[in-house]
Amino acid sequence: SDEELHARIRAAKATLGDRVVVLGHFYQRDEVVEHADFTGDSFQLANAAKGRPDAEAIVFCGVHFMAETADLLSGPEQAVILPNLAAGCSMADMADESSVEEAWEQLEEVYGDLSAPGADGRVPVIPVTYMNSSAALKGFVGRHGGIVCTSSNAKTVLEWAFERGERVLFFPDQHLGRNTAKAMGVPLEQMPMWNPRKPLGGNTLDELEGARVILWHGFCSVHKRFTVDQIDAARAQHPGVQVIVHPECPMPVVDAADASGSTDFIVKAIQAAPAGSTFAIGTEINLVQRLAAEHPEHTIFCLDPVVCPCSTMYRIHPGHLAWVLEELVAGRVVNRIAVADEVAEPARLALERMLAAKP
Ligand code: 13P
Ligand code: SF4
Repeated sequence: SDEELHARIRAAKATLGDRVVVLGHFYQRDEVVEHADFTGDSFQLANAAKGRPDAEAIVFCGVHFMAETADLLSGPEQAVILPNLAAGCSMADMADESSVEEAWEQLEEVYGDLSAPGADGRVPVIPVTYMNSSAALKGFVGRHGGIVCTSSNAKTVLEWAFERGERVLFFPDQHLGRNTAKAMGVPLEQMPMWNPRKPLGGNTLDELEGARVILWHGFCSVHKRFTVDQIDAARAQHPGVQVIVHPECPMPVVDAADASGSTDFIVKAIQAAPAGSTFAIGTEINLVQRLAAEHPEHTIFCLDPVVCPCSTMYRIHPGHLAWVLEELVAGRVVNRIAVADEVAEPARLALERMLAAKP
C-alpha cells in the first residue's frame, strides 16, 4: 500500500542518515516531494548538489539532465541516482549534439572563424544552452566559449554572452530565448529560428548577418499548451487576478501575463502576496496544485483547465524512491548517472561560468 511505501522510504532514509540527500524538483508529485530534503527550481537544485559534499549519494527526483548536472557539480566519489531512468525531458531531446555541431559548422561558413575575435574583441557567436539539455551539449558550449543558463538567470547569462560575442546561438528552448532577448530589447527580426532539418537552419544569409540571437527550434510540450485565450478567460472570470507564467511559454502568453519567471520566482511571488490574492499560473500542474494547497489564504489555479503534468517528471514514483534507497542501505548503488570524463570537463566549465555570472 502507499502507507507501506512511505514507511519504507522513511525507514531507509533514517538508516542512511547524512549519507544520502534527496533532492526534489518543484514539478515532482507530492508523494515524492514529501521525502525530499530540499525542493527547488533547477538552479537551486544545481547549487544544492554542490552544497552537500559530505553525502555519499544524491538521489535526484527530477529529470535526467538535472541528475547529470548534479553529477557534474558533485564530488567524484559521490553517486548521483535517478530513481527512474526513463525520466527524461522531451525539450532536452530536441537538441542533439550532432545537429548542434552541424549548425556550428554552417555558422562558421557564414561568419568565418567562430573563435576569432573581431575589432571590438568579441567573437562572432557564443553558444548558450538552457540547463534543459544533455551533458554532451553543455560540453559543446564549454568547448566553444559558451555558457549554461536556467530560467532564473537567462538575462544575466545573455548579458555575459553579449559581452563576449556579437551573437548568441541559443538552444534548445526557442521560447525562453525569445522571451528573454525580447525583454532585453532585441528586436524580433534579429532573432531568426534555426531549424536543424534545413540548410542554414531555414534562413537567408542576410537574416543570419543581421542576427543577434539565433533560436533553436525546441519547445516544452507542457508550457506550449498555455494560450492568451486562457489568460483572457481567467481575467474575465476573476477580476483582479494576477497571471504569472513560466518563460518556457510562447511569447504572446508571456506578453499577456502580469509576470513571468522560473518556478522559484512563481513560488516567491505567491509567498509575498497579501492574503486574499488570486493567481492564475502557467506552469506544471503538480506545482500549481501544491501551491494552492499550501496557501489557502489565496485563490490559486492553473491557467489550463485541462490538467497538464510533465509526463516525464511524473515517471518518478515513490516505489522507485523506496527501491533506490533500500539498495543503498544494502550497499548497492543502482541507476547511477555518471557523465563521461571527456564530456564532464568542458560541461563543468560551462556550468561554473553560469554559477559565477553575477546579475
Ligand atoms: P525551472 O528552472 O524553473 O525549475 O524549470 C525547469 C523546467 O524544466 C521547467 O520546465
Ligand atoms: Fe522538460 Fe517541459 Fe518537463 Fe520541464 S516541464 S522537464 S522542459 S518537458
